[in-house]
Amino acid sequence: MKLLFVGCGNMGGAIAAGALRALQNLELTVVDPNVVRARALLEEAENARFLADFSSLQGEAFDLTVLSVKPQQFTSLSSEAVAVVGSGAVASIMAGVTIDMIEKTLGTKQIVRTMPNLPALVGEAMTVAYSEESIPEEVRGGVEVLFKSIGEFTWLESEEQINAATAVAGSGPGYIFAFAHHMTEAAKATGLQPDVADLLVRQTFLGAAKMLKEDERSALSLKKAVTSKAGTTEAGLRVFENPTALPEICHQAVEAARVRAIELAEG
Ligand SMILES: NC(=O)c1ccc[n+]([C@@H]2O[C@H](COP(=O)([O-])OP(=O)(O)OC[C@H]3O[C@@H](n4cnc5c(N)ncnc54)[C@H](OP(=O)(O)O)[C@@H]3O)[C@@H](O)[C@H]2O)c1
Repeated sequence: MKLLFVGCGNMGGAIAAGALRALQNLELTVVDPNVVRARALLEEAENARFLADFSSLQGEAFDLTVLSVKPQQFTSLSSEAVAVVGSGAVASIMAGVTIDMIEKTLGTKQIVRTMPNLPALVGEAMTVAYSEESIPEEVRGGVEVLFKSIGEFTWLESEEQINAATAVAGSGPGYIFAFAHHMTEAAKATGLQPDVADLLVRQTFLGAAKMLKEDERSALSLKKAVTSKAGTTEAGLRVFENPTALPEICHQAVEAARVRAIELAEG
């Protein structure tokens, strides 16, 4: 696959690194004004091209271009960039930039909108994607292969659902980090040493997350399995699962993030 990355920062770098690890016959070109940093992020990319601009790419075609710049950087892309990127298929990871906006800027109709999340950095991303049905199957297939190289991947039924997915999986790592932080504070408040509290929380989250990934039982079934009658987990869960506590807070948080995603997309 002949891949072009426009922007190789945190996310672009993580996706390109995943592609390098997982894909055979990858021809990688990276355009980023900060060539030194892009190279440092992709040390293993011996045969990749790292370019500061599009001047030497005029007339060149790619199987897929990954748009991994910030939304404000996208709207100020040079005409040289638009000429190269607009002539082929693109996968955008930009938050809040709609397919319509991308089509108006680039001119191409072959657009897949994706939303990966931060665990792409450790090869455990959750990526959602949407494209119009008219997009060629080989483009959709290429996108799927690329994003599966950094974690899990699923298609959505409508572009609008990206806002909901952003509220759950895009922002989700932030919620989990906040939960971990408050659990660590609660652990310290019991008198546990800070480093012990930190270790207990990190490893407990990791262990539970691994079970969620590897055990076929639902989250609800797993919860029931670890909760014995009148035991300690039940005592803790009675606080968390008071109807106005965690269940209500989760609904409110996801809805607040979804509404914010819509506001950001509307500018
Ligand atoms: N971070 C996340 O968790 C996350 C999750 C999902 C989606 N996203 C989306 O991913 C995109 C990138 O986010 P990020 O956190 O990776 O940002 P980032 O680290 O700032 O990466 C963007 C890169 O693009 C470079 N760049 C700027 N203008 C360019 C141009 N004209 N051509 C080529 N490269 C250019 C930037 O260089 P300079 O630094 O020199 O400007 C930077 O290296 C955003 O649109 C964001 O919405 C992020």
